Amino acid sequence: MLRLGDFIGDRIGWNRYLKPFMYEKLPSDMGWLTTLGSLCALIFMVEAATGMFLAMYYNPSPELAYESILYIMNDVTMGRMLRGVHHWGAGAMVILVFVHMATNFFTGAFKAPRELTWVVGVVILLITLGFGFTGYLLPWDQKAYWATVVSANIPGDIPVIGDFITRIMLGGDRVSGLTLTRFYAIHMLLLPGLMGLCIVLHIYLVRIHGMAGNPAVKAPGAGKEQAEPRTEATYRFYPEHLSKCAVAFAVVLSVVMLLAFFCHVPLEDMAGTLDESYLPRPEWYYMWLFQLLTFFSGSSEVVGSLVIPAGGILILILMPWLSRTNFRRVSDRPLATAVGTACIIGIVYLTIMGFAGTKPYGKIIPVPDRELNLSEASGLKVFVNRECAYCHNINGRGGRIQGPDLANMVRKKRTRDQLMKYIRDPQSVSRWSIMPKYDLNEKDLISLADFILTLDFKTNRMRIIDREMALEVAGGNQRE
Ligand code: HEC
Repeated sequence: MLRLGDFIGDRIGWNRYLKPFMYEKLPSDMGWLTTLGSLCALIFMVEAATGMFLAMYYNPSPELAYESILYIMNDVTMGRMLRGVHHWGAGAMVILVFVHMATNFFTGAFKAPRELTWVVGVVILLITLGFGFTGYLLPWDQKAYWATVVSANIPGDIPVIGDFITRIMLGGDRVSGLTLTRFYAIHMLLLPGLMGLCIVLHIYLVRIHGMAGNPAVKAPGAGKEQAEPRTEATYRFYPEHLSKCAVAFAVVLSVVMLLAFFCHVPLEDMAGTLDESYLPRPEWYYMWLFQLLTFFSGSSEVVGSLVIPAGGILILILMPWLSRTNFRRVSDRPLATAVGTACIIGIVYLTIMGFAGTKPYGKIIPVPDRELNLSEASGLKVFVNRECAYCHNINGRGGRIQGPDLANMVRKKRTRDQLMKYIRDPQSVSRWSIMPKYDLNEKDLISLADFILTLDFKTNRMRIIDREMALEVAGGNQRE
C-alpha cells in the first residue's frame, strides 16, 4: 500500500510540485477577505457545472429557446433549482469578483511585483461581464431580446468600424437566430475556455509573487525578504486556508441556493411579442451603465456608451503603473482611496437611480412661457395623450430619461420634417432605435413637431403646467 502511494506520488509529481503547492505558507493577516479569490473560482465551478446540465436541455434556436427554458423549469427534475442556481450564482460571481478587485485596490495589492496578477484580474472581470451579457440573451424572452437590441446599438457610435462591429456581434444587422447561436457558442465555449486559462494564470501569478497580505502589518516597500508571515500560528494553503474558504463558500452557496429555491427567476413573454410600451431593462449589474447612457444624447452619446466605459477599463488595466509610489496603506494613498470610493459611490448611485426609473412621469409638463399657436397647442395634447414623457424629459423635467431630452431638439437644429419622420418611424432614421413607431395622422405629426420646436428655453422662459392644464390649453385654443 505504501509503495502504491509512493508510486502515484512520484508519478504525478506530488512531492516535487503538488505538496509544496498545497502546504505553502500564506499571510493570514487579512482575515476573511483572503477567501474572496478562491470564492470567485469556486462559484465559477458551480456556474460551469449547472451550465453544463442546462445545456443538455437548452435549444439555441429562436423557435425553441424559450420553450426549452419552460421545459427546464416545469419538466426537468430539479430544473427550476438548476436554473435558479445558475442565475443567482452568476449574480454572486459578479459581486465577488468586484469585491475581490475592490479589496485589492484599497490594500494596494496591485503594486509591484503584482502588476500582471492585477491585469489578469481585470481580464477576469471583463470575461465575467461577458458571460452575463451573452447569457442574458439565451432565454429569448422580451427582456433578453430588448437588452441585446439596446447594447447592439452601442458600438454603432464608433466612427467607421462601428457598423461592422455590430454586424459581427449580431451575425447580421439585427438580433436574430444567428445572434442566438453566436452568443450561445461564446457563452459555452469561448468564454469558459478563456476563463479557465485566466484563472490558472492568475493563481500561478499569485503563487510566484505570494499573496500581498495586509499593508498595515508589513512596512511599505517590504519585499520578498519579508515573505515569511509574521503571525505566530502557521497559516498554510492546506489545511488552514482551504478550510476557511470552505466555510465562506458554504455560506455563499447556501445564499445562492436559498435564492434559487425561494425567489423566482424572471422569465417574461417570448421575444418578439408585440408590446409598444415595453421598456428595456438590463440585468442589474449593467444598470449603472444603462443609466449613464441616459445622460448623453445625440452626438455626445458616444461619451456615455464608449468613452467612459472604455476609459474606465483602460484606467483599471493601467492602475499599477499610474501610481508610482510603493505605499500600500490607505492612509498613505489619499487620492487613490478618494477616487476609488467616489467610483463605487457613483456606481451604486447610478444603479439605484436606474431602478428608480419607475418614478412617476407625465404629471407636469414644461412649456414655453408664451401663448402657443393652434398647431403647437394641439401638439402638446398629442404629447400628453401619447405619453411621450414615459421616455422623454423636457428641459430636465416631467418625464423619464430613457430617450433624449426634447428641449435639445431646437439646439440640435432639427427641422419639422426630420422630427415628423423620426416620430413616425424611428428605426428608419436610427436603425437600432428603441423608440416605438407612432401611427399618427399627418396633422397630429405636424403639430407634435411644432410643439417640440417651441421647447427652446434660451429664448423663452419655462413654465410648468400640469396634465389637466395642458389638455385645457389645447382645448381652449381650438375653440378660438
Ligand atoms: C419607449 C420609450 C420612448 C417613447 C415612449 C418615446 N420615445 Fe422618443 N426616443 C426614445 C429613445 C430611446 C430615443 C433616442 C434614440 C433611440 O431611439 O434610441 C428617442 C428619440 C426621440 C427623438 C429624437 C430624434 C432626434 O432627431 O434626435 C424625438 C424627437 C422623439 N424621440 C420624440 C418622441 C415623441 C414625440 C414621443 C411620443 C409620441 C416619443 N418620442 C416617445 C424613446 C422613446
